[in-house]
Amino acid sequence: MMSFRNISMYYFVCVAVHGITLANAATFSIQNNCPYTVWAAAAPGGGRQLDHGQVWDLNVSSGVGGARIWARTGCEFNESGQGKCQTGDCGGLLQCQGYGLPPNTLAEYTLNQFDGMDFFDISLVDGFNVPMEFSPTSGGCNRGIKCTSQIVGQCPSELQAPGGCNNPCTVFKTDEYCCNSGKCGPTNFSSFFKERCPDAYSYPKDDETSTFTCPTATNYKVVFCP
Ligand SMILES: *[C@@H]1O[C@H](CO)[C@@H](O)[C@H](O)[C@H]1NC(C)=O
Ligand SMILES: *[C@@H]1O[C@H](CO)[C@@H](O)[C@H](O)[C@H]1NC(C)=O
Ligand SMILES: *[C@@H]1O[C@H](CO)[C@@H](O)[C@H](O)[C@H]1NC(C)=O
Repeated sequence: MMSFRNISMYYFVCVAVHGITLANAATFSIQNNCPYTVWAAAAPGGGRQLDHGQVWDLNVSSGVGGARIWARTGCEFNESGQGKCQTGDCGGLLQCQGYGLPPNTLAEYTLNQFDGMDFFDISLVDGFNVPMEFSPTSGGCNRGIKCTSQIVGQCPSELQAPGGCNNPCTVFKTDEYCCNSGKCGPTNFSSFFKERCPDAYSYPKDDETSTFTCPTATNYKVVFCP
Protein backbone atom coordinates (compact mmCIF):
# COMPACT_ATOMS: atom_id res chain seq x y z
CA MET A 1 0.00 0.00 0.00
CA MET A 2 1.27 3.48 -0.84
CA SER A 3 1.98 5.68 2.17
CA PHE A 4 0.40 9.09 2.34
CA ARG A 5 3.86 10.59 1.92
CA ASN A 6 4.41 8.66 -1.30
CA ILE A 7 1.03 9.68 -2.64
CA SER A 8 1.80 13.30 -1.82
CA MET A 9 5.15 13.00 -3.57
CA TYR A 10 3.51 11.36 -6.59
CA TYR A 11 0.94 14.13 -6.73
CA PHE A 12 3.67 16.75 -6.41
CA VAL A 13 5.63 15.24 -9.30
CA CYS A 14 2.51 15.09 -11.49
CA VAL A 15 1.69 18.72 -10.80
CA ALA A 16 5.31 19.74 -11.41
CA VAL A 17 5.45 17.90 -14.73
CA HIS A 18 1.99 18.60 -16.11
CA GLY A 19 1.07 21.87 -14.46
CA ILE A 20 -2.62 22.61 -14.10
CA THR A 21 -3.71 20.15 -16.81
CA LEU A 22 -3.18 17.32 -14.32
CA ALA A 23 -5.26 14.17 -14.59
CA ASN A 24 -8.35 13.94 -16.73
CA ALA A 25 -9.08 17.57 -17.45
CA ALA A 26 -11.90 17.90 -19.98
CA THR A 27 -12.22 20.43 -22.79
CA PHE A 28 -15.65 21.92 -23.50
CA SER A 29 -15.99 23.43 -26.96
CA ILE A 30 -18.74 26.04 -26.63
CA GLN A 31 -20.11 27.05 -30.04
CA ASN A 32 -22.63 29.69 -31.06
CA ASN A 33 -24.56 28.64 -34.17
CA CYS A 34 -27.40 31.06 -33.42
CA PRO A 35 -27.92 33.85 -35.98
CA TYR A 36 -27.63 36.29 -33.06
CA THR A 37 -24.92 37.03 -30.49
CA VAL A 38 -25.01 35.22 -27.14
CA TRP A 39 -22.87 35.76 -24.08
CA ALA A 40 -21.76 32.27 -23.09
CA ALA A 41 -21.44 31.61 -19.38
CA ALA A 42 -19.81 28.83 -17.41
CA ALA A 43 -19.59 28.05 -13.71
CA PRO A 44 -16.74 27.35 -13.30
CA GLY A 45 -15.20 29.20 -16.26
CA GLY A 46 -16.54 32.77 -16.37
CA GLY A 47 -18.04 34.07 -19.57
CA ARG A 48 -17.49 35.74 -22.92
CA GLN A 49 -19.32 37.17 -25.90
CA LEU A 50 -19.84 34.72 -28.77
CA ASP A 51 -20.93 36.15 -32.08
CA HIS A 52 -22.52 33.84 -34.68
CA GLY A 53 -20.01 31.09 -35.55
CA GLN A 54 -17.57 31.79 -32.73
CA VAL A 55 -16.19 29.08 -30.45
CA TRP A 56 -14.88 29.21 -26.87
CA ASP A 57 -12.70 26.29 -25.76
CA LEU A 58 -12.91 25.90 -22.01
CA ASN A 59 -10.71 23.54 -20.01
CA VAL A 60 -12.14 22.19 -16.77
CA SER A 61 -10.18 20.12 -14.26
CA SER A 62 -11.60 16.80 -13.19
CA GLY A 63 -13.52 16.40 -9.97
CA VAL A 64 -15.66 19.44 -10.66
CA GLY A 65 -19.26 18.87 -9.56
CA GLY A 66 -22.48 20.83 -10.03
CA ALA A 67 -21.03 22.68 -13.00
CA ARG A 68 -23.09 24.31 -15.73
CA ILE A 69 -22.78 26.14 -19.05
CA TRP A 70 -25.51 28.36 -20.49
CA ALA A 71 -26.20 31.18 -22.95
CA ARG A 72 -27.14 34.70 -21.95
CA THR A 73 -29.07 36.92 -24.34
CA GLY A 74 -29.69 40.63 -24.69
CA CYS A 75 -26.60 41.68 -22.76
CA GLU A 76 -24.89 45.04 -22.45
CA PHE A 77 -21.61 45.37 -20.61
CA ASN A 78 -19.33 48.34 -20.09
CA GLU A 79 -15.54 48.34 -20.38
CA SER A 80 -15.12 46.83 -16.94
CA GLY A 81 -17.38 43.91 -17.82
CA GLN A 82 -20.33 45.10 -15.75
CA GLY A 83 -23.87 45.42 -17.03
CA LYS A 84 -26.97 43.28 -17.48
CA CYS A 85 -28.54 40.55 -19.61
CA GLN A 86 -32.18 39.93 -20.49
CA THR A 87 -31.82 36.18 -19.80
CA GLY A 88 -29.25 34.17 -17.84
CA ASP A 89 -27.74 37.19 -16.07
CA CYS A 90 -25.16 36.33 -13.39
CA GLY A 91 -25.01 39.30 -11.04
CA GLY A 92 -24.38 41.71 -13.90
CA LEU A 93 -20.91 40.34 -14.63
CA LEU A 94 -19.51 39.42 -18.06
CA GLN A 95 -17.26 36.89 -16.27
CA CYS A 96 -19.77 34.88 -14.25
CA GLN A 97 -18.75 33.84 -10.76
CA GLY A 98 -21.95 31.92 -10.03
CA TYR A 99 -25.13 30.67 -11.67
CA GLY A 100 -27.45 32.71 -13.89
CA LEU A 101 -31.08 33.74 -13.48
CA PRO A 102 -33.99 31.89 -15.13
CA PRO A 103 -35.05 31.53 -17.79
CA ASN A 104 -31.91 29.77 -19.05
CA THR A 105 -31.37 26.42 -20.77
CA LEU A 106 -28.62 24.60 -18.85
CA ALA A 107 -25.86 22.18 -19.82
CA GLU A 108 -25.03 20.53 -16.48
CA TYR A 109 -22.16 18.18 -15.71
CA THR A 110 -20.21 16.49 -12.96
CA LEU A 111 -16.85 15.01 -13.93
CA ASN A 112 -15.12 11.92 -12.60
CA GLN A 113 -17.78 10.42 -10.35
CA PHE A 114 -17.92 6.84 -9.07
CA ASP A 115 -16.95 4.11 -11.54
CA GLY A 116 -14.87 6.67 -13.46
CA MET A 117 -17.90 8.22 -15.12
CA ASP A 118 -18.89 11.77 -16.06
CA PHE A 119 -22.57 12.64 -15.68
CA PHE A 120 -24.16 15.22 -17.98
CA ASP A 121 -27.58 16.56 -18.90
CA ILE A 122 -29.57 19.38 -20.43
CA SER A 123 -31.96 20.91 -17.91
CA LEU A 124 -35.09 23.03 -18.33
CA VAL A 125 -35.58 23.15 -14.57
CA ASP A 126 -34.49 26.82 -14.75
CA GLY A 127 -36.58 27.46 -17.86
CA PHE A 128 -35.54 27.83 -21.50
CA ASN A 129 -33.91 30.64 -23.44
CA VAL A 130 -31.70 29.21 -26.25
CA PRO A 131 -31.84 25.81 -28.08
CA MET A 132 -28.90 23.61 -27.12
CA GLU A 133 -26.90 20.49 -27.93
CA PHE A 134 -24.59 18.84 -25.36
CA SER A 135 -22.52 16.00 -26.84
CA PRO A 136 -19.34 14.05 -26.21
CA THR A 137 -16.64 14.58 -28.86
CA SER A 138 -14.05 11.96 -27.86
CA GLY A 139 -13.50 8.69 -26.09
CA GLY A 140 -15.89 6.58 -28.16
CA CYS A 141 -18.86 7.93 -26.23
CA ASN A 142 -21.40 8.94 -28.82
CA ARG A 143 -24.72 9.55 -27.13
CA GLY A 144 -25.31 13.31 -27.36
CA ILE A 145 -28.43 15.20 -26.31
CA LYS A 146 -30.34 18.06 -27.88
CA CYS A 147 -33.17 20.39 -26.98
CA THR A 148 -34.15 22.32 -30.09
CA SER A 149 -37.94 22.75 -29.99
CA GLN A 150 -39.59 26.11 -30.41
CA ILE A 151 -40.27 26.40 -26.69
CA VAL A 152 -40.24 30.20 -26.46
CA GLY A 153 -42.90 30.61 -29.18
CA GLN A 154 -45.17 27.97 -27.62
CA CYS A 155 -44.60 28.92 -23.98
CA PRO A 156 -47.75 28.78 -21.77
CA SER A 157 -48.88 32.33 -21.04
CA GLU A 158 -48.20 31.97 -17.28
CA LEU A 159 -44.54 31.16 -17.97
CA GLN A 160 -43.75 33.70 -20.68
CA ALA A 161 -40.78 35.93 -19.90
CA PRO A 162 -38.80 38.47 -21.94
CA GLY A 163 -36.45 36.41 -24.15
CA GLY A 164 -37.49 33.01 -22.82
CA CYS A 165 -39.92 30.64 -21.12
CA ASN A 166 -39.78 30.43 -17.34
CA ASN A 167 -39.87 27.32 -15.22
CA PRO A 168 -43.01 27.08 -13.03
CA CYS A 169 -40.98 27.27 -9.78
CA THR A 170 -39.74 30.74 -10.67
CA VAL A 171 -43.31 31.91 -11.30
CA PHE A 172 -45.38 30.08 -8.65
CA LYS A 173 -42.72 29.34 -5.98
CA THR A 174 -44.64 26.33 -4.63
CA ASP A 175 -43.11 23.06 -3.43
CA GLU A 176 -45.03 21.14 -6.11
CA TYR A 177 -42.89 22.90 -8.73
CA CYS A 178 -39.72 23.77 -6.77
CA CYS A 179 -39.37 20.41 -5.02
CA ASN A 180 -37.57 21.85 -1.99
CA SER A 181 -38.93 19.00 0.13
CA GLY A 182 -37.31 16.54 -2.29
CA LYS A 183 -40.64 14.95 -3.13
CA CYS A 184 -42.26 15.92 -6.39
CA GLY A 185 -43.51 14.47 -9.64
CA PRO A 186 -44.28 15.65 -13.12
CA THR A 187 -46.85 18.44 -13.53
CA ASN A 188 -48.78 19.75 -16.49
CA PHE A 189 -46.10 22.42 -16.90
CA SER A 190 -43.25 19.89 -16.80
CA SER A 191 -45.14 17.86 -19.44
CA PHE A 192 -45.06 20.90 -21.70
CA PHE A 193 -41.23 20.85 -21.55
CA LYS A 194 -40.87 17.04 -21.68
CA GLU A 195 -43.01 16.67 -24.79
CA ARG A 196 -40.77 19.14 -26.62
CA CYS A 197 -37.40 17.99 -25.23
CA PRO A 198 -37.69 14.33 -24.11
CA ASP A 199 -33.98 14.03 -23.20
CA ALA A 200 -33.90 17.13 -20.96
CA TYR A 201 -34.82 17.55 -17.29
CA SER A 202 -38.37 18.92 -17.11
CA TYR A 203 -38.69 18.93 -13.29
CA PRO A 204 -36.16 18.41 -10.46
CA LYS A 205 -36.71 14.62 -10.04
CA ASP A 206 -36.72 13.81 -13.76
CA ASP A 207 -33.45 11.83 -13.43
CA GLU A 208 -34.37 8.56 -15.09
CA THR A 209 -34.84 9.85 -18.63
CA SER A 210 -32.52 12.86 -18.41
CA THR A 211 -29.11 11.78 -17.05
CA PHE A 212 -26.36 10.60 -19.39
CA THR A 213 -22.86 9.26 -18.76
CA CYS A 214 -19.50 9.00 -20.49
CA PRO A 215 -16.15 7.69 -19.27
CA THR A 216 -14.09 10.26 -17.42
CA ALA A 217 -11.63 12.19 -19.65
CA THR A 218 -14.16 12.52 -22.47
CA ASN A 219 -14.30 15.96 -24.13
CA TYR A 220 -17.60 17.65 -24.95
CA LYS A 221 -19.23 20.30 -27.08
CA VAL A 222 -22.06 22.60 -26.12
CA VAL A 223 -23.72 24.12 -29.19
CA PHE A 224 -26.23 26.97 -29.02
CA CYS A 225 -28.83 26.67 -31.85
CA PRO A 226 -27.41 23.34 -33.14
C1 LIG B 1 -6.85 23.26 -23.02
O1 LIG B 1 -6.34 21.95 -23.04
C2 LIG B 1 -5.82 21.58 -24.32
C3 LIG B 1 -5.43 20.10 -24.25
O2 LIG B 1 -4.70 19.82 -23.11
C4 LIG B 1 -4.64 22.49 -24.66
O3 LIG B 1 -4.13 22.16 -25.95
C5 LIG B 1 -5.13 23.96 -24.68
O4 LIG B 1 -4.05 24.83 -24.89
C6 LIG B 1 -5.82 24.30 -23.37
N1 LIG B 1 -6.44 25.61 -23.50
C7 LIG B 1 -6.41 26.54 -22.54
C8 LIG B 1 -7.11 27.81 -22.84
O5 LIG B 1 -5.85 26.36 -21.47
C1 LIG C 1 -19.36 49.88 -15.30
O1 LIG C 1 -20.62 49.76 -14.66
C2 LIG C 1 -20.50 49.67 -13.23
C3 LIG C 1 -21.90 49.36 -12.69
O2 LIG C 1 -22.86 50.19 -13.25
C4 LIG C 1 -19.91 50.95 -12.70
O3 LIG C 1 -19.80 50.88 -11.29
C5 LIG C 1 -18.53 51.14 -13.32
O4 LIG C 1 -17.98 52.38 -12.91
C6 LIG C 1 -18.63 51.12 -14.83
N1 LIG C 1 -17.27 51.15 -15.40
C7 LIG C 1 -16.97 51.85 -16.49
C8 LIG C 1 -15.53 51.80 -16.94
O5 LIG C 1 -17.79 52.53 -17.09
C1 LIG D 1 -51.78 23.60 -15.50
O1 LIG D 1 -52.82 23.53 -14.54
C2 LIG D 1 -53.16 24.79 -13.98
C3 LIG D 1 -54.22 24.60 -12.88
O2 LIG D 1 -54.49 23.27 -12.64
C4 LIG D 1 -53.69 25.69 -15.09
O3 LIG D 1 -54.00 26.98 -14.55
C5 LIG D 1 -52.61 25.85 -16.16
O4 LIG D 1 -53.10 26.61 -17.24
C6 LIG D 1 -52.17 24.47 -16.66
N1 LIG D 1 -51.06 24.68 -17.56
C7 LIG D 1 -50.87 24.01 -18.70
C8 LIG D 1 -49.62 24.28 -19.47
O5 LIG D 1 -51.68 23.19 -19.11
